[in-house]
Amino acid sequence: MDGHKRIAVSRRFFVLTVAIAAFYVPLALNYTWPLFAPGLSRWQDAVNTAINGDGYALGDGSVESVRHGAYAEHRMVLIVHTTLAGIALALGLFQFSARVRARWPAAHRWIGRSYLALMSVSMLTALVFLYLTPPAQHFIGPAFETQLRALAIGTLGSGWYAVYAIRRRDVVTHQAWMIYGIALMMTAPLLRVIWIGIQPLIPQHDLLTNIGVGSVILGVAAPGSAVFAFMLTQQPTPAAGVRCAPRWTYGAALLLAIAGSLTYTALVLGLPAPIPHSLALFHLVPAWLTLAVAVRGMVRARAAGDTARERQWRWLMWGFAAAPTAASLYAQIVPPAFTTADAVLAGGMDGPVIPITVAFALVVHAAARSQRHTDDDLDEPNVLAVA
Ligand code: HEM
Repeated sequence: MDGHKRIAVSRRFFVLTVAIAAFYVPLALNYTWPLFAPGLSRWQDAVNTAINGDGYALGDGSVESVRHGAYAEHRMVLIVHTTLAGIALALGLFQFSARVRARWPAAHRWIGRSYLALMSVSMLTALVFLYLTPPAQHFIGPAFETQLRALAIGTLGSGWYAVYAIRRRDVVTHQAWMIYGIALMMTAPLLRVIWIGIQPLIPQHDLLTNIGVGSVILGVAAPGSAVFAFMLTQQPTPAAGVRCAPRWTYGAALLLAIAGSLTYTALVLGLPAPIPHSLALFHLVPAWLTLAVAVRGMVRARAAGDTARERQWRWLMWGFAAAPTAASLYAQIVPPAFTTADAVLAGGMDGPVIPITVAFALVVHAAARSQRHTDDDLDEPNVLAVA
């Protein structure tokens, strides 16, 4: 993809992200108000009811039916989480504006500090809420809880690591891990978009089953969107000595993806009713789509002789190709108290994040290192003299 096209796609990606956040943040801010003033309406439920009817939005198998008691009992914890998360997400998106960064660097720094403070308290209160309440009474409950815990820790970790990086003047790493953290924060609106939007397509599912569907999709899509956003915003410095991989490695990655997909499918097909076996597809489709995008990027980079880019896409290809295997393996290492169903669902929600994040971290590390070398070369007195 040439530079102009990449900027255009990256801009569209960003506008879509802002639109989804702008739709959801007011619903999030309002979510807890009825817990303090019972007459008030909850906008998220109103939107859901208007689209899908109140049986789906509020009846059996809805969040309201299984979580009302926990939300009412811990409403102070929840209001801190939802309010600060909503404001943090809105602030965090401003950080990606090149104009703000260039014209008002002090604003960028102060928004960044505010984001970090609000996000940190919000994630800590999410962890407190999870500690205080048992999982939701539904077959997705325990698995979903593992994903929420991982999300809170991942959001905290990536945000603080981004700050550590900028204090060392490592802009590439700083931007990459800010993108990653915001991609995790965006799971909140995306999950609601999925559970509200997907119901007409699969009317047989109750709302909590669709939260499971959304969480399995986001197990690949959340780290995947961080990967693609980073690749759209970064062009690697051509690096001497980087060579394209032999072709058989691509076949090996494909075999890994097939083996993992068959294993995960077999695990899901072995689950008892009422767990829908179609859940396997909600992992496999995003896993193969993201793999296809990485393979396409790699093939194009190879054809263009861009070995640095080929290596980036190749590492990412391995991350996506390993996602179904990671889902299957993760299902084997969950706590002993988990049922097989809890384990397989947690595998789909959490497992794929591991290899995709490892691949992302490798790509970011290499990009930051080559940027450092370029900066060092420019600092050489003889280079400046030539320039
Ligand atoms: C990515 C990090 C996040 C984590 C780990 C997280 C965690 C949680 C947890 C544990 C709950 C209670 C769920 C339950 O067990 O019933 C919750 C609910 C909620 N969270 Fe978050 N959250 C995150 C991001 C966000 C963001 C960015 C927003 C707002 C923009 C948000 C808004 C809400 C709302 C409104 C609820 C109420 C439940 C509902 O909508 O049905 N969260 N979150």
